[in-house]
Amino acid sequence: MKIAIDGPAGAGKSTISKAVAGELNYLYIDTGAMYRSVGLAAVEAGINTRSETELAGIIGDILIDIKNTEDGQKYYLNGRDVTQKIREPQISMAASDVAVIPAVRLKLVELQRKLAEKTDVVMDGRDIGTYVLRDAELKIFLTASVDERARRRYNELRQKNSEADLDAVRAEMIKRDKNDSEREFAPLRQAEDAVLVDTTNMDIGEVIDKILQLAKEKKNVTL
Ligand code: DC
Repeated sequence: MKIAIDGPAGAGKSTISKAVAGELNYLYIDTGAMYRSVGLAAVEAGINTRSETELAGIIGDILIDIKNTEDGQKYYLNGRDVTQKIREPQISMAASDVAVIPAVRLKLVELQRKLAEKTDVVMDGRDIGTYVLRDAELKIFLTASVDERARRRYNELRQKNSEADLDAVRAEMIKRDKNDSEREFAPLRQAEDAVLVDTTNMDIGEVIDKILQLAKEKKNVTL
C-alpha cells in the first residue's frame, strides 16, 4: 500500500507521516528533505538557486542517501550527514527554488519512485498524489490556515532556540507556498482523488487517527 501525503509548508506533514508510517510499520519517505539537500548543495556551491543552467551543472554529481538508524532517519549528501543542516530556515527557500527546475525534479522523482517500488510507504511532499505516486491507494491533502501553520513553525523554531519572528515566519511561508504552487512542473496541488484534511483545529493525535482510519478503510490493514 502506498500513502501519499501532500500539502503546504507547516501543515504537519512530516510529523503525521512519520507517526502513520510507524503505526503501520511502513517506510517513511520525506521528499522535502531531498529538495532541501539539493538546495543545500547549491547554496554551498555558491550558485544561483533559481538558475536552471547553474543547477544543471551540479545536479549530476549530487548523491542523496537516506538511512534508517536508531536515532531516526538520516539524510546524506554525497556521503555527509546533513540531517540537521537541511532544517535551517535559510535552506527552506533554497529548496523551494531548486524544486522549480525540471532537471532537479526528474532526478529526485526517479529516486522516490525507486524507494517506493518494493515496499509499503508513506511519502510526503507536494506532488506525491498528483505526480510521483499517482497510483497511491490513499492520498491525503493536509492543510491548515496560514496563521496556524506559521504559529506551529514559529514554535518549532523557538524550541530549537533559533531566533524567530512570527511575522517573518508567516511572510516566508506565504512566499514559499506561492513559489511551490505556481511553478509549471508538478506544482503543489490537491489530487482529484485526495481526501482533504484541514488540521487547523485538530491535534496531532486526531489527525493520525483519521489517516489510520482511512488507511484501514482502503485496505484491511491490521491496526
Ligand atoms: O516539505 P519541506 O518544507 O521540507 O519541503 C521543502 C521544499 O521542497 C518545498 O518548499 C518545496 C519542495 N518540495 C517539492 O517541490 N516537492 C516535494 N515533493 C517536496 C518538497
